[in-house]
Parts: sequence; structure tokens; C-alpha cells
Amino acid sequence: MGALVERAAELAAIDAALARAVSGDGSILLVEGEAGIGKTELLHTATVRARDLGMQVISSGGSELEREHAYGVVRQLLLPAYAALPAEAQAEVLTGAARLAGPVLGLEDGHKAGGAPDQGAVLHGLYWLAVNLAARQPLLLSLDDWQWCDAPSIRFIAFMARRLEGEPIAMVLSLRAEDSSAPGPALAEVVGEGLTRVLRPRPLSLPAVGDLVAESLPGPVDPAVVEACFQATGGVPFLVHELVKAMREDGLRPTAEVVATIDRLGPQAVTRSTMLRLAPLGEIAVGVGRGVAVLGARATIRRVSRLIGVSEPELIPALDALVSARILRAGGPLEFVHPLVRTSVYEDLPVYARSDMHARAAALLAAEGADPEEVAAHLLGAEPREDPRHADLLVRAAHSALARGAPDAAAVYLRHALAATPARDGQAQLLYELGCCELAIRDPACTAHLRAAMQTLPDRRARALAALALADALFYVADLEGSRAVLHAALADLGAEDDDLALRLEAMAAHAGYGDPRFNPEVQADLPRLRHLAQRTGARARALNVFLALVDSTSGDGVDRTVAGVERGLDGGRLLELETSDSIAVAVAVNALVFVDELDRADALAVAMLDDARRRGLVLGFIAGSAHRGLVALRTGALARAEAETRAALELAQQHELMFTIPFTLSYLGAVLHERGNSAEAGAMLEQIPLPPGFDQTLAGATFRQIRGRLRVAGGDRAHGVTDLRGAGAALEAIAMRNPNVHSWRSELALAIVPEHGDEARGLVEQELEDARRAGSSRALGIALRASGLIKTGEDAVAELGEAVAVLEHSPARLEYARALTDLGAALRRANARKSAREPLRHGLELATRCDAAALADRARRELIACGGRPRRTMITGRDALTPSEQRIAEYAARGDSNRDIAQALFITPKTVENHLGRIYKKLAISSRDRLPDALSAQR
Ligand SMILES: Nc1ncnc2c1ncn2[C@@H]1O[C@H](COP(=O)(O)OP(=O)(O)OP(=O)(O)O)[C@@H](O)[C@H]1O
Ligand SMILES: [Mg+2]
Repeated sequence: MGALVERAAELAAIDAALARAVSGDGSILLVEGEAGIGKTELLHTATVRARDLGMQVISSGGSELEREHAYGVVRQLLLPAYAALPAEAQAEVLTGAARLAGPVLGLEDGHKAGGAPDQGAVLHGLYWLAVNLAARQPLLLSLDDWQWCDAPSIRFIAFMARRLEGEPIAMVLSLRAEDSSAPGPALAEVVGEGLTRVLRPRPLSLPAVGDLVAESLPGPVDPAVVEACFQATGGVPFLVHELVKAMREDGLRPTAEVVATIDRLGPQAVTRSTMLRLAPLGEIAVGVGRGVAVLGARATIRRVSRLIGVSEPELIPALDALVSARILRAGGPLEFVHPLVRTSVYEDLPVYARSDMHARAAALLAAEGADPEEVAAHLLGAEPREDPRHADLLVRAAHSALARGAPDAAAVYLRHALAATPARDGQAQLLYELGCCELAIRDPACTAHLRAAMQTLPDRRARALAALALADALFYVADLEGSRAVLHAALADLGAEDDDLALRLEAMAAHAGYGDPRFNPEVQADLPRLRHLAQRTGARARALNVFLALVDSTSGDGVDRTVAGVERGLDGGRLLELETSDSIAVAVAVNALVFVDELDRADALAVAMLDDARRRGLVLGFIAGSAHRGLVALRTGALARAEAETRAALELAQQHELMFTIPFTLSYLGAVLHERGNSAEAGAMLEQIPLPPGFDQTLAGATFRQIRGRLRVAGGDRAHGVTDLRGAGAALEAIAMRNPNVHSWRSELALAIVPEHGDEARGLVEQELEDARRAGSSRALGIALRASGLIKTGEDAVAELGEAVAVLEHSPARLEYARALTDLGAALRRANARKSAREPLRHGLELATRCDAAALADRARRELIACGGRPRRTMITGRDALTPSEQRIAEYAARGDSNRDIAQALFITPKTVENHLGRIYKKLAISSRDRLPDALSAQR
């Protein structure tokens, strides 16, 4: 192979990317272009140059057969690099989050009983494995033929692409542009990433083609020949090479006479010339060519011999003939000289013959005990037919994909397995497994499959498990009616009331119904039975106890009962252990604690969720844990933490496309941003997201609308804001949600409408006061008293606000306390008691500042100045100057965690941690990490 012609710009880009990687900064090159343009050649050059620079190189290519082989390409990349390490180093690169890559590399079975392993966890693990490898020696990842990569591998590449900054990793990818089945969205992600540069090698110019012709053919070259070659090949290097070789072999000289011959070869020169060369070699050679084309990367002489039914000795002359005809490569594994040659031979095979060869290849590989996914790849290439053996092989492939944490790939196999399974036997179990895989990737198709499984599984308990999965899927798309119907059907089917599975079904059905006005009365009426059931079954009724505690927390009495119920439900950590951090029951427990102001306990539980999520690598668990920790922080008034946690939850949800978590997380983030003086951003976020149908009427919908209403009012759109607040209130009333500590929508609405509807506003506040007293929540009572004070005037106002302050002083709700103090001060000022106004204002200002409540602090400061007070200047350095994410990271660092620990724990990159720490040190005016704990506590 000669030197590359006309590729100076591409080579310079490669050199630059490699140099950057060596100096510790990652980037990506995507080489895109038509077949034969020279992509593989550029990637090859990159690997050679990387080695010269002392980098470790790991490279791999997709092949047309490998599309469905879950993480096949990633394994080709990472497994050899891992395997080549000494044992000690192997352990080292696989520590921490990288451990989660274990299942992909086949070092550990990730197929947990009863469900697919978490996809996000696997991606996170693989990323860390690559980072750890690169930490030993700068790394070049070269990946040829992206268009033939399996989907999980593509997801990994896209995941990496966003996380290369600050890592000594260069990636070069190639993509055959015209391949219509190329994976669009993931590619767009990579290309859209700032660290990616796209190279589009162009066809060779006329003079370059002339050079190649002159190099290979003897004698002076007639310009007409060059022109004809250029026309016939479009300057595509591969075609030029092929054409020139064919001319040389035919003994043609580059004179004007051959122009007509060249024109005849035309643009499909390769296919034609390949077939022209292949056909005369005889039947056996043609068979061998086809066999190699079908077997792809797994072709061996033995396999080809068995596949086409010709003995090995008989094959040898045919193989040699194929090599001399420049169809197969000489030596090494059985391989075509170029992918385009394989395509020509493969596509020349008639459809049914091809399908039949794939089916036989599958049988052959299966008999050899080959990897199930290798076998299955052939079955996917064959026409689907009902055949229990095929079904069995496809199911094995699905399990192997699942064990690697690739439920999407598993789903593909299972769909084919379903087609291969006669309706009468065994479809039910397949439907269940398929449904679970689809649930794991939140594919809407899961509901139909789980439902069918539920109706056909022969075993009652199996049917109940299918029902739980289906109910979960429906719950998250806000189809509470459907969710309940499924659970009830399963309960009736299961019979035994105190069975552990039945208890889970009961808890879920009750919870799904409770938050929906259509079913709330039914659930309320059923409560005595549920309580009795929980009592009878004791510790086993975990989720049910949590649900009952939620009822206690919202009904407005029984703080102690709520706490006791939650404790019973958590069962000393067993609930979390059994149902994991991404289960609904655990999230419900946090909420119940929040509603009764048990914020320390709630926070501890959210932290336990995060730990569980981290340990198991559950992305959804991490999102839920962060969002709930954010909620708790919002309630205590730790707004910076609240922002950091909810933003982290939101980002992760977007990255992993877990869209159903977004409305919920966004509600809290909206509330936090509003307090921090950022209502415009919050408002825009809440206005933009699409909501599932029926969402409005649910508890989560009411939360969302109350906060959107607040933001609309703040943004000057009072009419729509009030509609939202009324809507939220109606939804809450409809489910008899009276505890104002869940949502104090009445006082909020009252303050919004008081100018026009004074009587209604007063009525609303009265009601809220009454309910708050009954609930025994000092937070809710303080909020209601404050509203009551604000709609009164003069001494009444001052008295009521004073009471609000007194009540809130002993509640954990610091932000509400600060708000009441500020309003009291303002009322005193209006009543001309400027001097006595200063104390509450000063105190309110200090608290608001500590809560990072910019909007409130601002108001308190202005009031204080108006009273003749002189507010202390706010610190501009120190902890308070840290952004929410900086504070979050600073806390971990102060605890002694390394950058890598922090990055792994928070599902972010080391570079992000490093950047943040740099800014943190500057703001705290310190120079090293060990000064962090002091610097952080000194500010408080
Ligand atoms: N710039 C160049 N100058 C000279 N020869 C080249 C050049 N680029 C590629 N070639 C030759 O052209 C042939 C095809 O190149 P290559 O295999 O890299 O193409 P490709 O784009 O990877 O094709 P495919 O899409 O089929 O994988 C090779 O024999 C290679 O040596
Ligand atoms: Mg190539």
C-alpha cells in the first residue's frame, strides 16, 4: 500500500488530536465518507502514529453481522486491553465505578433475578474502565465502520463523547456515509459534541488519479486514460486501485485505445469486476466466496467446508484461486480484500439462498457451542420461520445480552424468538421477558407484551410478577386507572391475601388510586381493610406500611403514626434492599416524612437511596434519590443544595432519556430557582415541558401546577397563574388532601387574588389555618398565619405575622421563618414602627442569606435600609459565593474524597470535578484541599 495521496489536512487533524490526548485532553475525530474513500486507511494511519507517540491503541471495527451482538464492539475494544494487563493492574482498572463494567466484559453476571440490569450503570462502568486504562497510558480508541456497530456499543461511544474533556483519550471513528441504516440520533449526539471534529476525505483529484495510474501501469500515460479512469471511479481511491489493477492484469497499457474498455467497466466497477473474476473460478470457489461472505468475521476453513458441504482438501485449490483473483486476502484469517468486495459477493446471493445459508450457519455455530449472540446474528439474517430450536437459540442470545446489561439488544432477540415460537407453546414467558426488557429501556411496547404475558402465563405467581411490572410501566405514564385495573386483576387471580406478592400488589394499587380523584374515595373506603391486612402480616407488609404512613401524613393528624409507619415499612433497611432505590415505595416513604416535617429522617433516607443507587449503579435510583434530597433541602431552606440535587437529577434524566421523571423533578427545581431569584429561567423551563395526559388531575400534577402558577404570578401572568393555583387546589380537594403541609395552595391562591376577591381570599386562609392546626405542622401553620397577616392591615397584620414568626421559630423550615420575619419587619415599618422593624428584618436577612434565598434576601435588605438600618455587606467570597454544584462538590472534597471518587459518586467526569474545585479554591481563597473543611465551616 503506497502513501496516502491528498490527505494532508486529515493527517494534520489526526496528529493534533493525538498530541492533545498525550497532553491530557481528549477529543474525537469522526471520519465520514462514501465506501472506498479511504476511511479505514486514515484510521490505520492514526493507530500507527499513536503507537509512535507511545500511546496504547485499542481498535475495533463493526462488521455487517454484528449489529445485534450486544456490546460486541465495546468488548472487541476493551476486553483485549483489559486481558493484556497483569492481574494486579486488572484489579486496579476495575475498581470503583468501573466495576459496573464487569457484566459487559463477561467478568460477572449482571442478569439479576427478575429484571434486566441497569443500562446506565453499565455505561458509567465502561466509561470508568476506559478512564482507568487511559490513566496508565494515553489511549487511542479507534473504531472503524460505526454504521455496523451494535446499538449498545453506539450508546457507549456517544456517552464517552460527552465525557472526554481532561482525559488522555483520543477517539477516531469512521462512518460510511451513504449507509441508510446508520444510527442517527446517537451519531448526532457525537457530532454535536464540542470535542468532535468531522473529517470528510474528498475524492482524489484528476492529477492524483493520474499519479496512481502512472505508478501502476508501464509506459507513458495518455491523458484520455486518466480522464476515463477519473470518470469511471469518481476519484474514489478504492475504485481507482481496483481499476488500475484490473488493467494491469489484463495487460492493458494506458493508451487512448483502452478508453472504451474503461468506460465499459463503469461506476459499478468493483461489483462487476469482482463477479467477473469470481464466476470463472468454478462452482466450489463461488461457494467458498459466498460462505465467507455469510460467515463474516467468523469464517474459518472448517466452517466454510461444513457450511457448503465440500471437504476441506477440496477447498484448498479454490481458496488459492480466490486469493490470486484478489478476492480473498492472502494468509491470516479468511477475509475479503475489502469490505466492498464482500458486499458484492454477499449481495449477489439470491435472497432465499442467503437466508438458508444463514440458518445453516446458525446451526453450525450452535453445534460448536459458539457464543449465543454469534449464533443469533445469523438467525436474524435468515427469514423468520417457526422453529423451536431457533427460538431457543435466540432466547439464549437474549439472556447473554441481558447479562451484559443490554436490554435493548435482548429485546431484539426476544422479538425474533417470539416469531419463531409456535403460539401454543411457551410464548407467555417470552412475552414476559420481552416486556421486562422493554420496561428497562422505557419502550412503550412493553405494556402490550406484559399484558399479553399476564393473560397467558401458566403460573399464578409469574402472572403476578408480570402485573407488577406492567403496573409500574402504566404508573409512570400516569395511566393510574390502567395500573390499578392490572393490579386488581392480579390480586383476584392470586387469591391468597397475605402472600408477599399480594402485599406488594395491594400497596401499589392503593398508592396508584390514592393520588387520583377517580379512585381516591374507593381507596379511602378500603383503608380499614388495608390497615387490618398490614397488622396481620406484620413486617412483611413493607410497602403497604409505607403507603399507610403516607395516608397518615397527608390526612392531617398523627405525626407519630406516620413516623412509626414509615419505620415499620422500611423494616430496618430491608425495603430498600429488596425493592432498591428506584422503587416507588421508598420514594413514598421520603414524602411521608417530609409531609410531617421529619426532615432529618427524610434526608437520611434520601442519602440511603443515593448510596443504594451508587452501589448498584441504578441511574433511576440516583435520579430519585437526588430529587428527593432536593425536596428535603427545599423544605429546610438549604436552597443551594436543593438546586444542585435537583439539577443533577434533571441532567441525568435527560442524558439517559428517563423523561417520565422530569415533570416531578422540574417542579422542585422551579420552586428552588424562584426562591433564588431566578424565576424567569424556572418559568421558561416549566412552560416548555410536555406533560402526560391526565397528569393535571394527579398529586404530582397538582405539585407541578402549584409551582407553575407561582411562577406565572411572579412573571406577571396573574390570570393563568391563578388558574393553575385553582386547578392544583381542585385536584388536591378531589383527593381529600387536606394537610396544608403537603401543599399550602390556599394561602398562595389567597395572596394572588386578594385585591379582587377579598372575601374568598379570607375564606381560603381561614380553612388553611384550621387544617394546619389539625395537622399539627408548625411549618404549615406558620405559612397560613403569614398569609393571614398579609391580607390584614395595621395592628392585626403585625400581630398575626408575629404569631407566624413565633410558630416558625421552632420548625425546621428556615426559609419560611425568614420569610415571616421579613414580612413582620415590613408590616412594622408600614405601621411606622421603624425601629422595632429592624430586628426581625436583620434576622430575616441573615437567615435568607444563609438559605441562599436571593429574592427574599434582597427584599429584606431593601426593607432594612428603608427603616434606617445598615445591612452588613454580603460576603462575596466564602461558602456563600459557591454555586450549588460547587457546594455539593466541596462537601465531598472536604470529607476527604478524591476527585475520582467524587466524579464516580456523582455520575460526572473527573474534569468537571477538577474545574469546579479550581473555582472553589479561588472563591474560598485557599490553595489546597486540606484547607477546605475549615474554609467551609468558617463561613457558617
Ligand atoms: N488518499 C489515498 N491515496 C491513495 N490510496 C488510498 C487513499 N485512500 C485510500 N486509498 C486506498 O483505497 C483503498 C480503500 O481505502 P479504505 O479501505 O480506507 O476505504 P474505506 O473508506 O474504509 O472503504 P469502506 O467504506 O468500504 O470501508 C485502499 O486500498 C487504500 O489503500
Ligand atoms: Mg473501511
